[in-house]
Amino acid sequence: MNNKIKPCVIGLGYVGLPLFLRLQTKFFSIGFDNDKKRIKNLRKKIDTNKEFKKQNLTIKNRSIFSSNQSILKKSNFFIVTVPTPVTKNNKPDISFLKNASILIAKNLKKGDIVIFESTVFPSTTNYLINNYLNKFSNLVEGKHFFVGYSPERVNPGDSKHTISKIKKILAIPGSVKIKNRVKSVYKHVSKKLILTNSIESAETAKVIENIQRDLNIAFINEILLFTDKMKYNFDEILRLASSKWNFIKFRPGLVGGHCLPVDPHYLNYIAQLNKMKLKTLLAGRDVNNSMQKFVSKKIEEKIISIRKEKKIDPKILICGLTYKKNVSDVRNSLSLKIFINLKKKYKQIVGFDNVCEDKILSKFKIERDIEKTKDSFDLVVFLVDHKKNKSLYKYFKRQKKIIIDPLKLYK
Ligand SMILES: NC(=O)c1ccc[n+]([C@@H]2O[C@H](COP(=O)([O-])OP(=O)(O)OC[C@H]3O[C@@H](n4cnc5c(N)ncnc54)[C@H](O)[C@@H]3O)[C@@H](O)[C@H]2O)c1
Repeated sequence: MNNKIKPCVIGLGYVGLPLFLRLQTKFFSIGFDNDKKRIKNLRKKIDTNKEFKKQNLTIKNRSIFSSNQSILKKSNFFIVTVPTPVTKNNKPDISFLKNASILIAKNLKKGDIVIFESTVFPSTTNYLINNYLNKFSNLVEGKHFFVGYSPERVNPGDSKHTISKIKKILAIPGSVKIKNRVKSVYKHVSKKLILTNSIESAETAKVIENIQRDLNIAFINEILLFTDKMKYNFDEILRLASSKWNFIKFRPGLVGGHCLPVDPHYLNYIAQLNKMKLKTLLAGRDVNNSMQKFVSKKIEEKIISIRKEKKIDPKILICGLTYKKNVSDVRNSLSLKIFINLKKKYKQIVGFDNVCEDKILSKFKIERDIEKTKDSFDLVVFLVDHKKNKSLYKYFKRQKKIIIDPLKLYK
């Protein structure tokens, strides 16, 4: 165990918890979250995000989970992984970062290091240093304490690209001594560190990684809308186009979560402040958001046609309600929004998701298990292709059920 560095991870969500779990294998580490319930659960080895099983939540090196602010005094290496959402008007909400920065500032000592990992718009780190860290600590960054930025690439539900197996960007503008100190911590986090002196470059790189993905999906979503309109065979077109060496095969989808729908607005915000318009980003956002309407329309058209042809009010099953496959998270989930809106209009509608967080299941009366009732549905809709849904799809196909797969999840 390294006795000198005592990391404290602030915000133990999808990003902070895996990071803390890596660090505590080498250092006495503090996992701090202001959500008391989260801390209580983690102490009992329960991760309600369902990313970690009990056996992976065993803590070493006398490390601790805490929601007690006074614990921060024990740390000399703060890592910030709090949320950075958008407001109702799609403006960056950096209030969590502000609160975390003030809290750190009040506990800062000479020689301490602060690394921000939350996704931000370029220039945010500098803003946090000037407005909160320096001000509330009465110390000076670069002289008394040091700040770096290391964007996060955690991909929930992806067991291949876990934190230890991916490359991690590390922006540390300080001296060689500071760089070495930060590296001595992060070498235990990720397989390869990509170093830069420029915090703005790292901040911008992070958002454009996600924006590129958002735009690629938007493009293929728009092609799906076009082929649907023209009654062309989408899968056949994709098969042909992808035979070209440089065609990149993206799949359509309901883009949700806290990264892809958010990051274009972050970059656009700072561009606008600098009197520049980023034209493609928001066009992509429009297309991806419009998929909710497209999918809902497909389902409603089918309901109407079943009513007409079979003279029944169909019993409908909607499979997959989280924001993407194999995750329990429903933040900005378009499939959940589709389900909630349809439920207001159609009584005979059942949502099914066996991956989703428990509190969401009970809040929206979503079923976790449909083994006993699965044969009773007249119409089955697939919106998210959780691993566990594939056998269900095959089952319904064999049973010759009426299936809607508006996003072409299955062949
Ligand atoms: N989840 C992802 O897939 C992902 C991937 C890459 C980057 N990011 C970015 O990482 C950051 C964190 O995202 P997340 O998904 O882990 O969020 P999250 O909501 O899962 O977790 C954040 C945690 O921070 C806690 N928190 C909030 N304010 C706090 C404070 N002042 N002090 C202590 N704890 C506080 C919350 O209680 C919560 O447990 C965001 O900027 C996000 O954009 C997320």
